[in-house]
Amino acid sequence: MSGEKMIIKKLLEKFEIKDMNDWNNVNADLVITDPPFGIEFSGKNGNYHRNAEYVVDGYVEWGVSEYGQKIQQLLEVIKRNLKSNGQGLIFSGWNNSNIIHDRVMRFKGLTLRGKLYWTYNFAPTCKKRPAHNVYEIFWVTKSDKWVYNTRCTTHHCQRGEPNLTTLNFKRDYKVKMPKYPTRLPFKLLQCLIEHFSNKGDLIFDPLAGSGMVGVVAYFLKRDFILGDLNSNGKVVFEALLDYYINKNGFVQDKKLLTWWKK
Ligand SMILES: C[S@@+](CC[C@H](N)C(=O)[O-])C[C@H]1O[C@@H](n2cnc3c(N)ncnc32)[C@H](O)[C@@H]1O
Repeated sequence: MSGEKMIIKKLLEKFEIKDMNDWNNVNADLVITDPPFGIEFSGKNGNYHRNAEYVVDGYVEWGVSEYGQKIQQLLEVIKRNLKSNGQGLIFSGWNNSNIIHDRVMRFKGLTLRGKLYWTYNFAPTCKKRPAHNVYEIFWVTKSDKWVYNTRCTTHHCQRGEPNLTTLNFKRDYKVKMPKYPTRLPFKLLQCLIEHFSNKGDLIFDPLAGSGMVGVVAYFLKRDFILGDLNSNGKVVFEALLDYYINKNGFVQDKKLLTWWKK
């Protein structure tokens, strides 16, 4: 087996097909996670302006009526799988962020330290109404101690005035590859991981989808553990690892982003 194949095999072992509630004592330094939106989302809706043929099935959505309870469970998962000085970054679309905010504020054992906003390019050909294009990121810590590095290596800190309120990152669409609905872009995760963790730290995502958190953690020399109920997430994860490790993915990303700006 070639060196690259061995590396990918080892990295795939860090992604388990598992319910988030079944994780215990992972002992992570940082949780980065992006729960389902509670909007009957399938990832194949026409307004998502992408070739649905490549989008994998199996995404597990949460119903609106159960949303509060699921978020409560997620907070428990985060708390019991973080180190005593660990911290978490929880993504939220706009529809149900009030529920996340409310649950986080009332939760014992994690403290809300602030919110970050990710602004992104969404459905730019959407003509009928303005497309909402902000994600909220809830930043929570387990104690009064946490890791925070003042500078990252993305444009966020290298150009202009960096601030941790607004993160402006484009989605890095890939062509002719299996796609995961809602996959987070590389540079956004790079920015967060560099600010909120150190090399060698363990990063955990119990709702990993495509496993993009793990892909970026690997290239930034962090360890990672991933889980999702959808085994197709792991199919996309393998394709992403192959793209970045064997197919010059970083150069391809640059070319695609230049094309997107035109
Ligand atoms: C918004 S997506 C995460 C996308 C991911 N951040 C990425 O970059 O690809 C939410 C994920 O949660 C998964 N999920 C929903 N309920 C789950 C549960 N109880 N346990 C594990 N995964 C679950 C869904 O299958 C979906 O992949």
